Amino acid sequence: MDAKVTAIVLAAGAGTRMKSERAKVLHELGGRSMLGHALAAVRELGVEQRVVVVGHQREQVEAATTALDSEALIAVQHERKGTGDAVRAGLDALEAGAARGTVLITYGDVPLLTAETLRAVVDEHRADARAVTILSAEVDDPTGYGRILRGDDGTVTAIREHKDASENERSVREINSGILAVDGTFLDAALGRLTPKNAQGELYLTDIVGFAVADGLPVGAHVLEDVWQTEGVNDRAQLARLARELNDRITRRWMLDGVTIIDPATTWIDSDVTLAPDVTVRPGTQLLGATTVAGGATIGPDTTLRNVEIGEDATIERTHGSDAVIAAGATVGPFAYLRPGTELGAKGKIGTFVETKNAQIADGAKVPHLSYIGDAEIGEGTNIGAGTITANYDGERKHRTVVGRHAKTGSDNVFVAPVEIGDGAFTGAGTIVREDVPPGALAVSAGGQRIMDGWVARRRPGSAAHEAAENAARQEENPQ
Ligand code: UD1
Ligand code: CA
Repeated sequence: MDAKVTAIVLAAGAGTRMKSERAKVLHELGGRSMLGHALAAVRELGVEQRVVVVGHQREQVEAATTALDSEALIAVQHERKGTGDAVRAGLDALEAGAARGTVLITYGDVPLLTAETLRAVVDEHRADARAVTILSAEVDDPTGYGRILRGDDGTVTAIREHKDASENERSVREINSGILAVDGTFLDAALGRLTPKNAQGELYLTDIVGFAVADGLPVGAHVLEDVWQTEGVNDRAQLARLARELNDRITRRWMLDGVTIIDPATTWIDSDVTLAPDVTVRPGTQLLGATTVAGGATIGPDTTLRNVEIGEDATIERTHGSDAVIAAGATVGPFAYLRPGTELGAKGKIGTFVETKNAQIADGAKVPHLSYIGDAEIGEGTNIGAGTITANYDGERKHRTVVGRHAKTGSDNVFVAPVEIGDGAFTGAGTIVREDVPPGALAVSAGGQRIMDGWVARRRPGSAAHEAAENAARQEENPQ
């Protein structure tokens, strides 16, 4: 944006129908709160001055605003006296005269609105040097919305709220989305002229349209075909409906960018996820948070990844993971659980029924079966035997296990941390590694196998085991 734009995001409403302890604008879709979507859109537009008007559940909304956008100003609307009063509070949060230029008014509960649409509204507003530009839409059921009233020549004359509208005015299907671009100087003065003489006893922001027309100033409406973008959320059913639509938009965009999504209906992708061309996403997959996937990788089926970075050509199957990094060509799953701090090197493997946490598993290293690897470092090319547990917790503190490069550890091992297994070392099956194993050594801890002949006959007489053993003994005596 070249000339100055100030955005005022209204977020003081009560959101009663959400029936929630959480402020309405903090409910999420696509991995962001509704307020997060609203702020992302104005930020993407390049608005330098952003104000969020808070009121109801104010502490929550304030804290969230600061976390989302540390530069946003916060304005407090103490009483819910209407949208005109909310915008007044927003302007009052600015330094005197700071709202010269264009003021863009948006809502914190209209999550699908894009920066592109806002740009179109602002551009049209400026091109026609208007006092007010309304973002409007034609809807099938306009009940409850403010209606756009137009004169015989089609020019906008006013916005009439549903509760104040005549029968005739209610038949108008062009509605006010609530999003407006307004000349700042005009807005500042016009807000002073609002009165609560209307059906709801509120200060209607929308009355400024009538004032501009009366003053002979140009007003207009930008009619948006894509009605979804103007939809607000009042209850959780609407939230789910918009979340589904947002997801459809996100999956479609990635498919057009070269990502194969086998089943978009069961694939959920958050707004902040990035996928490269030639990624394949199989059914039942959720890619959440700041997850990124490089080209050629295959994710799913039935996989949930949050804040996970996946390298080129990696394969992740039936896996649940968060805050992990999987390098190029690595394979994970099926049935793996990647907890925070998991790092798997190139062509490494985290296999079936394996849980990892704060574990750096180097290039080409493998943990293929039935293991828990936590607080550990596994060196390049090392193979960890099936059923290995890092005993990392002594009941008070966590300790690290370090396994060197090209080691081969046996099945059913326990590494009792803190412990180190050197480069090229081996361990036997069933080893409990309590002390460090030097490089190149073999460690065994299981005792030699002892045979106690006839134990079953003595201790389990008459059991099925006893009978089977007797039969085997007879067979041995009289082979047929
Ligand atoms: C408003 C518009 C209406 C439009 C509709 C679109 C007015 C008078 N009416 O009606 O023309 O069709 O939105 O959804 O502007 N808010 C505050 N403080 C207040 C009142 C509202 O912050 O005192 C915020 C709400 O949190 C919400 C937005 O403003 O985000 C709109 O408020 P809402 O009560 O939903 O307005 P409507 O009566 O639906
Ligand atoms: Ca509303």
